Amino acid sequence: MIKPNLSSAEMSSAFCKALKDKTTINPDDTAIVFYNLSSIQERIIDLQNLFPQNTIHAIALKANPITKILSRIKGSGVGAEVASLPELHLAEKAGFAPETIVFDSPCKTNAEIEYALKSGIHINADSFDELDRIGKILETVASESTIGVRINPQVGAGTIKSTSVAGTISKFGIPVNHNREKIIAYFMKYDWLRAIHVHIDSQGCPVPLIIDGIRKVLDLAIEVNEELKRHSHQSLVDTFDIGGGLPVSYHPGINPVSMEQYAAMLKTSCSELFNGQFRLITEFGRYIYANSGWVASKVEYVKRESDYNIIITHVGADLLLRKCYNPDDWYHHITVVDKAGRLKTGTDINKYMVAGPLCFAGDVIAMDLELPVTEEGDYILIHNTGAYTLSMWSRYNSRQMPKVIGYADGNDTFEILKERESKEDLFEFWS
Ligand SMILES: Cc1ncc(COP(=O)(O)O)c(C=O)c1O
Repeated sequence: MIKPNLSSAEMSSAFCKALKDKTTINPDDTAIVFYNLSSIQERIIDLQNLFPQNTIHAIALKANPITKILSRIKGSGVGAEVASLPELHLAEKAGFAPETIVFDSPCKTNAEIEYALKSGIHINADSFDELDRIGKILETVASESTIGVRINPQVGAGTIKSTSVAGTISKFGIPVNHNREKIIAYFMKYDWLRAIHVHIDSQGCPVPLIIDGIRKVLDLAIEVNEELKRHSHQSLVDTFDIGGGLPVSYHPGINPVSMEQYAAMLKTSCSELFNGQFRLITEFGRYIYANSGWVASKVEYVKRESDYNIIITHVGADLLLRKCYNPDDWYHHITVVDKAGRLKTGTDINKYMVAGPLCFAGDVIAMDLELPVTEEGDYILIHNTGAYTLSMWSRYNSRQMPKVIGYADGNDTFEILKERESKEDLFEFWS
């Protein structure tokens, strides 16, 4: 059974050790992003054990594009889901084989489609128009690509508006309710179209709703195949992509449905996905990374007023963009450690606001926190920051992206996965 998240004690222990390693952390590292590589590995193995052996687990690159991590996970036999041509190039650079790369994007240009087709990358088209573009390009280009189409099952929105994509109207995919006949007609027309894709949400969707959405699209796939058979088509829909989206634990002690439970629920409700009728693709991102990553950020100042305290620290809306812009939708637990990384205990009489370094008032990671007495030079450990953080990095105020360090359980060595951005990197970015 996979642990839902890393404890404060585990993070503090790793941080104490890392701080002693002067070759890894230096005084410029006012914030450091950590990844527990054992946790990433465990989750990949979990996925591989729970789904049929020939499933392509295309890990969503948008959740975490650190190349050294991508190269490692590629070695574990997974693929990569990419949502842009630059992400596709990152996947190629990390060494993913073309047939294990899944290209999703609602905005693919003709040139991008042609590149993917020539490279043999799996494409999920997002619209009828994109399917027609692919059809046109295939008239002149030979391709080994497998090709699917994204369907919006229209089963309803989740609790987080900005990540809900299965409501009546969504910018993604073809809405199923009024397009059933047309979708079937496209499968009849294009014999290279033999995959179906559905992705429901990310974090905000109750698991039964995710499963309802997958079931609805699976029924469509079965209906398409019946129609293809009725018309004596040789090839049928043989690949089904269930997307990602499984919610993970951000609150210590609150544990959402585990991957094991999710796979069991899917097996019950969508048994056709497990009996060899379809080759499966999954696109999990948050599940692999969110709970495997955390941040240590130095407390630069503590502003003390008579009834509240404000911690000013080195990451805020630049790294935790979703939390700061939609504070009610997201949560990151915070632990305070001293300058050597040791857990601080007790509770200050006043509550704390934790604010980032940026020049706007919304740069706040947490409000009304009960924390131990916190002082300049301490660090805050921000929990569960492994997904959709560095990948969403904001350039506002031009602060440099922090160093990223990886470590494994039971091993006291730390590997720099990405150096802190340098002044030269910054100049290059803006020039
Ligand atoms: C098409 C698609 N696939 C996969 C994912 C990954 O979702 P998650 O990280 O929640 O597993 C996303 C994220 O929104 C997505 O849009």
